[in-house]
Amino acid sequence: MDVTMDISTKLSALQVMRDAPVIPVIVLNDVGQAVLLARALVAGGIRMLEVTLRTPQALACIEAIARDVPEAVVGAGTVRSAADAQACAMAGARFVVSPGYTHAVGQACRDAGLPLLPGVATGSEIMMAQEDGLTELKFFPALQAGGSAMLKAWGGPFGDVKFCPTGGITMANAAEFLALPNVVCVGGSWLTPLDAVARGDWAQVTTLAVQACELARTNA
Ligand code: 3PG
Repeated sequence: MDVTMDISTKLSALQVMRDAPVIPVIVLNDVGQAVLLARALVAGGIRMLEVTLRTPQALACIEAIARDVPEAVVGAGTVRSAADAQACAMAGARFVVSPGYTHAVGQACRDAGLPLLPGVATGSEIMMAQEDGLTELKFFPALQAGGSAMLKAWGGPFGDVKFCPTGGITMANAAEFLALPNVVCVGGSWLTPLDAVARGDWAQVTTLAVQACELARTNA
């Protein structure tokens, strides 16, 4: 049995990152679309799904995916407070992604038993996350904050940290990031284009997921 899929199993951030080369960053406005979208991504081989807390329906979407798509592992993104972390844990999220890091968010995730991938963009932020025991981090916004050159520079002083660069990553530049030894996976919204989701073009989402799974990684 694949322990990742057993909802009683606590995942590590590394397990979340290692499952596929890309973690899709998902914005959902309609609970009715949540399950269909999740199934489309799973059909293409992507099962770690980051549903962002950017719409009023986000928590209900997380709940629906957790309940109805057991082949997926649903997580919450855009978690910015301890209250957000608690709410997404209640909704059934199994991992948390945040655009930045605070000790309060870190503590709330530990209390809830949820792995956290916090966003960092500076050395000080990496050190703050490391002080709390976190060594798997999201580099956000990756392209705008220095891209692959920044990750190469961090490989020296922060050689023990693994990153999931997110922000500005596309199918066209993902390979450049995935080739770096300190990158395990990337995050991005390109697997779930808003227009495709709005018209329910699940075949397109599955095709994009299949292409994303074909991206090679040096550090899987
Ligand atoms: C986000 O927070 O929206 C993510 O970083 C996704 O960014 P992207 O749309 O550039 O992939």
